[in-house]
Amino acid sequence: MSSAPYIVGNWKMNGTRALLAEARAINRAAARYPGVQVALAPPFTLVQSLADEAQAIGVGGQDCHVQPKGAHTGDISAPMLADCGASFVIVGHSERRKDHGEDDALVKAKAEAAIEAGLGVIVCVGETLEERDAGQAEAVVSQQVDNSLPALEAIADLPAGKVSVAYEPVWAIGTGRVAEVADVVAMHKAIRTRIEAAYGEKAAGVRILYGGSVNAENAAALLAAEGVGGALVGGASLAAESFAAIIAAAGTEPVD
Ligand code: 13P
Repeated sequence: MSSAPYIVGNWKMNGTRALLAEARAINRAAARYPGVQVALAPPFTLVQSLADEAQAIGVGGQDCHVQPKGAHTGDISAPMLADCGASFVIVGHSERRKDHGEDDALVKAKAEAAIEAGLGVIVCVGETLEERDAGQAEAVVSQQVDNSLPALEAIADLPAGKVSVAYEPVWAIGTGRVAEVADVVAMHKAIRTRIEAAYGEKAAGVRILYGGSVNAENAAALLAAEGVGGALVGGASLAAESFAAIIAAAGTEPVD
């Protein structure tokens, strides 16, 4: 399954139970595209409801704590996510790195905690506009990959497809300013090189997703680009109409 395009919606801090109707519609759309692996990461409050009723999509969390349990008020652990039906978790999103001061070492520990709990993991990386303008984008992202990915020993026994990297340039998130396809291809190539250095032949099972203002209009070009294994979608994943169009843009045949 790991070579299937992986289309993941990150709902961020959006969605009350009323939005489950959109998730149901997304589930129906995903069922028509068995060649695409579709997932949603709703807020924690909706994980269980969604996991209970959406059979054609994976359901995941947007963060987890490094510890399985304990005195950490307000936090959610990876085993808790697994317990309510999540199959994966996003770690190291730039909004968490910024809002909560998360560094690469913490992101790596979270990724390893997720794997320990049996979850798949999407590790996010991406440069800021200042870093890109300074010509530092590739160096910054390479360093994030080197230091945020779970250790080889942690993933050695995992099947392909359980670990993904999401390249999300910070300046492209929620701005409507999507990265140029050529820049995405170049960065995905650089990331692939770092993953291969870390994982050797296991690297083949790691997909690299692009994220940042992906929408129904630009998805086909991004998803067809070399080295792009899927998309991590924010705003456009909140409505079934736009998210279904992105799933359809992954280029596999629908079934009726
Ligand atoms: P937008 O698609 O809203 O730009 O968000 C991207 C993102 O951060 C997904 O994790």
